[in-house]
Amino acid sequence: MINRNDACWCGSGQKWKKCHYPLLPQTDLKGVAREYKKQFGILLKTPEQIEGIRLSCKLAASILQATCQRAKAGVTTNELNNFADQLHRKAGAIPAPLGYGQPPFPKSICTSLNEVICHGIPDDQPLVDGDIVNIDVTCILNGYYGDCSAMVEIGKVSPEKHHVVEVSKECLKRALKILKPGVPLNEIGKVIEDYATEQGCSVVNQFVGHGVGIGFHEPPQVPHHYNNIGIPLVEGMTFTIEPMINAGVREGVMDPKDRWTTRTVDGEPSAQWEHTVLITPTGHEILTLL
Ligand code: MF3
Ligand code: CO
Ligand code: CO
Repeated sequence: MINRNDACWCGSGQKWKKCHYPLLPQTDLKGVAREYKKQFGILLKTPEQIEGIRLSCKLAASILQATCQRAKAGVTTNELNNFADQLHRKAGAIPAPLGYGQPPFPKSICTSLNEVICHGIPDDQPLVDGDIVNIDVTCILNGYYGDCSAMVEIGKVSPEKHHVVEVSKECLKRALKILKPGVPLNEIGKVIEDYATEQGCSVVNQFVGHGVGIGFHEPPQVPHHYNNIGIPLVEGMTFTIEPMINAGVREGVMDPKDRWTTRTVDGEPSAQWEHTVLITPTGHEILTLL
């Protein structure tokens, strides 16, 4: 039997583990976990960690759903923030955005309206008929992270806004569908950018999905645009897919006043949906599905 440290069968003179060592099919999960940590910084999760992450994801999904149901004309995003914050506390969880990053994010959820691509800060402006809003919830439960977001259309919205909401939802759906061990990570960006551009929309490339579970933003980065990150998906990976799709150009600009809110440069609407997923031996599980 060939050993990891033996010369590779291909005649390269390199050790087998450095050369054609098969990451797939996964016979040696501990070996794969070691390699993914070393080569990519990716933490493959143990069954115990997966159970913790799954619980956190279910909580995030339920807080998101309840908060979305409250998003109506006349309600302020601060009211949504306070409602969601309360739900975290009642469940014994911590809202991950609060105090996160530099400068510290000041609220417990993100609320991104209309031309805001992401990281909108809840405030005292009431929602109005015709708005589209993304609500993004990330909770920490027993140390484990779950991250998801969804769009709400307030009253009757323009056809352009409705289109970008639907396209971003379909982008996420199409990306989820291909997930299984062995699929290169960059297939995700290909599926998303192909569909979005076919629909006359653009894909934001300044922000990406991310590994999540033990930390808020873990490796790998998960671009939603064309890229060359060919890391094969393997069981035990947990990460988000969260395509930000613009009706106009892809470029965004961060608000210099709060250093969080990022808007489309052309002022055209933007939409996003997000799930946390787990790669399983045979496919995937959408952890933030109720
Ligand atoms: N939840 C966002 C994401 O999907 C990150 C928000 S960072 C914050 O990755 F500080 F703005 F909350
Ligand atoms: Co995320
Ligand atoms: Co999020």
